[in-house]
Parts: sequence; structure tokens; C-alpha cells
Amino acid sequence: MAILVTGGAGFIGSNFIQDWFANCNEPVINLDALTYAGNPNNLNTLPAHAAHTFVHGNIADRELVGELLTRHTIRAVIHFAAESHVDRSIHGPEEFIQTNIVGTFRLLESVRAHWNTLEPAAKTAFRFLHVSTDEVYGSLAPTDPAFSETNRYEPNSPYSASKAASDHLVRAYHHTYGLPVLTTNCSNNYGPYHFPEKLIPLVIHNALAGKPLPIYGDGQQIRDWLYVRDHCGAIRRVLDAGQLGQVYNIGGWNEMANIDVVKILCAALDKESPRADGKSYATQITFVKDRAGHDRRYAMDARKIERELGWKPAETFTSGIAKTVRWYLDNAAWVQQVTSGEYRKWIATNYS
Ligand code: NAD
Ligand code: DAU
Repeated sequence: MAILVTGGAGFIGSNFIQDWFANCNEPVINLDALTYAGNPNNLNTLPAHAAHTFVHGNIADRELVGELLTRHTIRAVIHFAAESHVDRSIHGPEEFIQTNIVGTFRLLESVRAHWNTLEPAAKTAFRFLHVSTDEVYGSLAPTDPAFSETNRYEPNSPYSASKAASDHLVRAYHHTYGLPVLTTNCSNNYGPYHFPEKLIPLVIHNALAGKPLPIYGDGQQIRDWLYVRDHCGAIRRVLDAGQLGQVYNIGGWNEMANIDVVKILCAALDKESPRADGKSYATQITFVKDRAGHDRRYAMDARKIERELGWKPAETFTSGIAKTVRWYLDNAAWVQQVTSGEYRKWIATNYS
């Protein structure tokens, strides 16, 4: 028996696989297309006992996925693979439709065909866990209550619309075919192996490189930050004990305005790796043109997963940011490797 992880060379997927082998020995088959965001080096530090098999391939390849499901006696699929960056979805939505919607559909079809061949006990035990986002619920006004699992879907970006579509497909496969699915919707993650196109790693990278720290619009947009390994623990918990067909919101109970996040990062870097001229990294903060259609506020009501499954985050923002800044300072070679070539083109396009 094994689990199939899609997108396991990306940020959360690779953290999930590391977290998995820190907690058990069950084999993992990791299917990843290695887009710009996928990096097999993210898994270099797996322990020697880790039964990890990397497969370079696409979730939309039905033949390959069908073969993996059968050959490795897969008992659960944890579906991370996606195009994940909102800004990229604004510049070029096509890939988001292909991967997040068509890719998820094809994956569901492969899984459904396999699941139908299983013996009754294996069929009952099988799980398809779909990893989604808080962005499907849209944007909150300052005094609105946090998103609960019953909020209506109001996605505002091509990225969130494509994730919303995938959530609906997963739901429909449960309702129509009885596929044993679970869906998790999570808030903004941060931590090691976060690709430096996203706010927190971009700011750390730019600060150390002496570059501007770009704040979109007025910097008062609010996100609910969660340390990535907490997210991984929540997914394991949902996989073990979640009720079939149910949705679980996951969040950090940690709403913060972007400008405050960036100031905290600057203060942490001032302490851990001070600038040669003695000035604060905060002097590099630069307000730039806002993101098109920028959602103002996200906040997750994560009481259901706490009440029903006993999960809540272990890290505070202070402890999680300290670990994250330390990781980036200690892993300059990783940052160097992922910020060459295509990355430079992206930065030039997005911030021009
Ligand atoms: P990421 O962009 O870092 O990684 C995505 C991975 O998927 C990469 O390794 C990439 O190579 C792979 N991939 C892309 N297309 C593929 C395809 N067609 N077939 C196989 N592999 C493919 O993303 P992430 O930040 O790790 O996010 C993982 C999942 O979690 C996504 O579904 C995302 O929507 C969701 N999510 C992310 C966050 C966050 O804050 N990062 C929060 C909530 C939910
Ligand atoms: O909420 C969950 C989502 O969080 C995930 O579903 C997405 O996959 C993930 O990318 C993330 O989306 P965001 O758009 O919230 O993350 P990002 O790091 O791109 O931006 C965080 C906030 O910071 C957002 O309000 C935009 C702002 N920002 C971002 C960048 C890259 C800036 O002000 N400047 C920047 O340069």
C-alpha cells in the first residue's frame, strides 16, 4: 500500500512529504510535472528510510496515472498539483484552466476508473483528498465574519476561479459516483521551500539582495498566515479521520496586513543578518501598482476541523517567521538555484 501525492515537488507538497516521513513509513509515490514551481531538490533532505518514488509526469496523463494507481496499490491520493500563483493567473490564465480544471478532471477520471476495480474493503478505505484554498470564497469586508465551510463561492481571480471549478468537480464526483473524497480549503502558507515569487520569500530574497520590497497598492490587504508544516498536519488529520464528502477550512487564526508582515520580516532580518550600512531593511519598502482585482481580506474560521478532528495550528506567527527567516538564511544555495533563468523573466514581466 502507498499514497499518491500530486505536486510533491512544489512548496506545500514537498513539505507534506517531509512531514509524512517524519510521522510514518508508508511509501509515497510523488507525481509531479516539474513546472517552474516544481523542484526535486526540495526532497533532498528526506531521511534514509523514506520510501519515496518520484515520477516525472502530468496529472492529466490518464494512462500514466492509471498505471501508478494499480502498480503501487494506492490507497489514497493527496492532490496538491496546481498552478498556484495569482499574479501569473492574471498574466496568463490558460495554464490555470488546463492544470487546475482539466488536469483535476482527468485525475478524477483516472481515480474513478481505478476505484471501480477495487474489492469492497479497499473501495471503502480509499480516499481522494483535494487540497484547495480560501480564495474560492472571495474577499471579506473589514467587519465580515471569517469564511466558514458554508460560505458561497465568489472567486475573483482566474486562479481562484480555476480552484473553485476543481472543488466543484471533486464534490460532484462524490455526489454522483460516490467517490470517497475530502476537500480542504486553506489560508496563506509560509515556510521553507516557498518559491520566491510569493510575498514572504520574495521579500526575504529582495531584502538580502538590496532590491526594492514591492508592496501592492496601500499594503492594507489582509491574509491569514499559516506555517506550512501546520497545514501538512491538518491534511494528515483530515486524511485519517475526515468525514467523506466533507469540506474542512484550515487557517492560522492569524490575520495580518501585508505591510505589517513585511515590517516584521524586515525586523527579523535586521536582527539575524543586519545590513552592512546599519540601516533597516524597511528602507527598501516600495509601494507599487496594485494587483488587478486584488482581494482585500481573507480570514478562515477553522473551528470545524478543531471541533470535529481536534486539529489546531501549533506555530505562532512569531515562531513560524523566525524558523522561516532562519531557513532562508541557511539555504542561500536553494534560493540561488530557483531564482535564475525563467524566474528573472517573470520578475521583469510582473514588476515592470
Ligand atoms: P506550487 O506552485 O509551489 O507547487 C505546485 C506543484 O505542482 C509544482 O511542483 C508543479 O511542478 C506541480 N504541477 C503543476 N502542474 C502539474 C501537472 N499538470 N501535473 C503534475 N504536477 C504539476 O504550489 P503550492 O503553493 O505548493 O500549492 C499546492 C496546492 O495547495 C495547490 O493546489 C494550491 O492551490 C493549494 N494551496 C496553496 C496555498 C499557499 O499558500 N501556497 C494555500 C492554500 C492552498
Ligand atoms: O490564500 C491562499 C492563497 O495564498 C493560495 O491559494 C495561493 O496559491 C497562494 O499563492 C497565496 O495567494 P496570495 O495571492 O494571497 O499570495 P501572494 O504571496 O502572492 O500575495 C500575498 C499578498 O501580498 C497579496 O495580498 C498580494 C501581496 N503582494 C504579493 C507580492 C508577490 C505584494 O504586496 N507584493 C508582492 O510582490
